[in-house]
Amino acid sequence: MQSVDLDLEDARRRYHFAFTREDHDRLPFYSALMMALESDLVAQELLANVRVEQRNPMLVLAALHLAALRGHPELTPIYRDARWGLITDPEGAARQVVDVLNTEPELVRDELHRSTQTNEPGRSAIFQAVIALIAQPGHSSINLIDVGTSAGINLYFDRFPVRAEDDENPLTLVCRDETSVDRTLPLPDVFSRVGIDPSPLDLAVEDDRLWLQACLWPEEPRRLARLDAIIAQRSSWPATTVLRGTVAERLGDAIALGESSSLTMVINSYVAAYFSEDDQRAYFEDMVERCRNDNVAWISLESPFMVNWPTSSTSGESARKGATQVLVTLPGESPRQWGWCHHHGLWLALELPD
Ligand SMILES: C[S@@+](CC[C@H](N)C(=O)[O-])C[C@H]1O[C@@H](n2cnc3c(N)ncnc32)[C@H](O)[C@@H]1O
Repeated sequence: MQSVDLDLEDARRRYHFAFTREDHDRLPFYSALMMALESDLVAQELLANVRVEQRNPMLVLAALHLAALRGHPELTPIYRDARWGLITDPEGAARQVVDVLNTEPELVRDELHRSTQTNEPGRSAIFQAVIALIAQPGHSSINLIDVGTSAGINLYFDRFPVRAEDDENPLTLVCRDETSVDRTLPLPDVFSRVGIDPSPLDLAVEDDRLWLQACLWPEEPRRLARLDAIIAQRSSWPATTVLRGTVAERLGDAIALGESSSLTMVINSYVAAYFSEDDQRAYFEDMVERCRNDNVAWISLESPFMVNWPTSSTSGESARKGATQVLVTLPGESPRQWGWCHHHGLWLALELPD
């Protein structure tokens, strides 16, 4: 499989730096697996073969998890034990998984055409707070557009209870508000829910559901249980429209589907990094223009290291700690930073501009 062009050292480094220290502490099995993959030649070659924009160790982890979810005789029991916290020898379990990978590399190779498309509902805790604030002065209904919607889960931002502490409801999003956030503000009615994605996932399709589950980490049972609950309940939630294509191709179509008297709220979370550099610049400029001239607001939850955006904010402590920038553009205004949040929505620190 190896060709002269493969950069195995680059692949090794990607495995090495894929997890934070906090991830290593709380995910003993996945941490041991990541370290085992880092030093395995087959794993390095597989990752080095992936197209550059998806050359992410999470794609390899998800492909192995997918094989387990599909019932692989050796992987399934290991991943099941990981989900229920029953692995007593993480290094031994990781070695077993890497042995399977060496015997059956096609388990991963055949899935590398896919993209890591984790669809994180926790971000809806942030969207709820920010949308409620934007909607307050007179916007009782909105047209919602989620750019890079994956399976469209955040089009249901208003279906999830947000609490400071967890409870029995698998749909509950736990979010710690580090500044005062009025969670009693009413949410607007949502006239239309439109997602845009070049390769959307469909919760009604079994292979797409499995891939979404595979993109989650087995040692995070709460997130897996939430996805199960969303899959079970989604058919009773309002209809959505998902437009296949890039944001450059479909944003105009998505806006046209809304009700003209309602505010159009465009949201994106952990998407822009997947655009080409030209598309990153074009999207930013397009959104600034639309907000300036039309009844459009924009909420962007992205890494602050979006260096092609003038709002890039890389020097502060929050950026250094890996926080997500909450960028808001109100109708008729310019983009402003409204604070920071956790990349999965576990905390929110709003710092509203004057
Ligand atoms: C990491 S997922 C994030 C999904 C979701 N926004 C969330 O927060 O959970 C990134 C998504 O962006 C989509 N994507 C990539 N390039 C895109 C583009 N040019 N226009 C729209 N979506 C794009 C991918 O297909 C993928 O579903």
